[in-house]
Amino acid sequence: MIAKLNAEHDEIVGSSYALQIAFRDQDVEAARSACKELGGLLHPHTRLEEVGLFAEMKLDELFTEHVASLCAEHAELDVELEAIVAGDLASIPKMLTLLNNHIDREENGLFPAALAYLDDTQWDKLHRPELMDGPGEAHGHPHEQ
Ligand SMILES: [Fe+2]
Repeated sequence: MIAKLNAEHDEIVGSSYALQIAFRDQDVEAARSACKELGGLLHPHTRLEEVGLFAEMKLDELFTEHVASLCAEHAELDVELEAIVAGDLASIPKMLTLLNNHIDREENGLFPAALAYLDDTQWDKLHRPELMDGPGEAHGHPHEQ
């Protein structure tokens, strides 16, 4: 599961460069299509995190608040994406900074903590096919946190 989430992060970061280029060129149309592509990768991913790893981690009160803050960042990312789609190119650097910091908090915070704290039963639960065989079909609407 952690390997899968990390691989998805790489794809998401890879896709975010198109947004950087759109910002450099101040190209609203390119920014819109970059957001669509990024959202198509991001939404199934954040959903998988929230219904899987996050749901399991927040059961431990040591991580409840931390998981809530990561979920809040998922929602913020959506707000920034929507602003960009609405034509606000100034949101692009904000979105990219937020995205990179967010991924860093997961890869260097929650994921190592999960490896240390979750037990075998919990990993079995997280490795059930409906979570592992995703990236979940991209659904056409941003998910609620
Ligand atoms: Fe993530």
